[in-house]
Amino acid sequence: MATPNFQQKNPQPLYCNNIHYSMALKTYYQHTRHQEILAKRTEEEFDTYVVRVLSEKFGDKLDDQPLRVLGVGSSEGNQETLQLKKLKTKFSRISATVIEPSTEQICKYQEMVHQNSSDITGIEYKWHNQIFQEFERSAEAGQKYHFITIIHAVYYVGKVEETIKTFYELLEPGGMIFMVIQADSGSTLLAKTFPRLAMEEQTPTTTAEPQKIKTNCLITSTDVKSVLSKYQMDYTQSSYTVSADLTNFFSKDEMTPVTKLLLDFITMTVKFQESVPEKIFNEVMDYIKRKTRVKKGDQGNDKYYFDTEYDILVISK
Ligand SMILES: C[S@@+](CC[C@H](N)C(=O)[O-])C[C@H]1O[C@@H](n2cnc3c(N)ncnc32)[C@H](O)[C@@H]1O
Repeated sequence: MATPNFQQKNPQPLYCNNIHYSMALKTYYQHTRHQEILAKRTEEEFDTYVVRVLSEKFGDKLDDQPLRVLGVGSSEGNQETLQLKKLKTKFSRISATVIEPSTEQICKYQEMVHQNSSDITGIEYKWHNQIFQEFERSAEAGQKYHFITIIHAVYYVGKVEETIKTFYELLEPGGMIFMVIQADSGSTLLAKTFPRLAMEEQTPTTTAEPQKIKTNCLITSTDVKSVLSKYQMDYTQSSYTVSADLTNFFSKDEMTPVTKLLLDFITMTVKFQESVPEKIFNEVMDYIKRKTRVKKGDQGNDKYYFDTEYDILVISK
């Protein structure tokens, strides 16, 4: 299929606009209950696949040293805190280094830590309000970690092969990387079909330009796994699917602000409906409709579900 022509208008990739990105991400998370689905997986599997293994490897070897944990793109810390609480059941001391360039998000994380302080006694936080690329150049980057967690953030850190090698370098022998990343499905396939929507921005050199955070929403677990295989890095994989009810996309009524934000997240474009030519808008909407699962709703009406699959990769050194 020829690449659609976007020349008449100039759509802005979502990640170039932090405020709009945050609103669209929040809408997508609420609509799909993505955070709850992932939290349930952590509840069910994190002890078996991570805590038990790390405890066997390091449980009696740390002496008085803390377990060193590195969080990359931690946001408000909701998922990371669940993991830290589970690690706390086996490790009495944890040093958690948090890297999050958004000041708003890291402040929310700090606030949550403050409010839950009794639950997380024994965890010492080191806050880095910066992008990973900046952290990597700092003195602290010489430190090695027992556990590195990167949940939906690998897209922002750089070229996939270098990124994986860098994280692996930062691991203590016996350590683990926990990565959640999109598979080749849902909005990723949409971005691959309409690559102009997934355009890369320039690499930022500092967090002073957060609006220029680089992302590559075309990176999927397939790319990461090919690097892991190339360098013979051990990993295990599990998956989960998130379903978005997009029925409102195809109604004759005008889209509500919430529906528009959902569309912006799925297309990774700021104000998608207003910013692309009508022809492209119709092509993308047709594409989305073709990729949905149709199910009968309670009133016998057709409901359209758009599924996106995510992989959880646990890499061991
Ligand atoms: C999709 S959110 C995921 C947040 C969190 N890990 C979760 O799953 O709830 C991606 C996060 O990565 C952060 N981020 C963006 N660019 C980054 C970079 N270069 N280095 C580290 N974090 C980055 C964003 O600010 C955002 O909070």
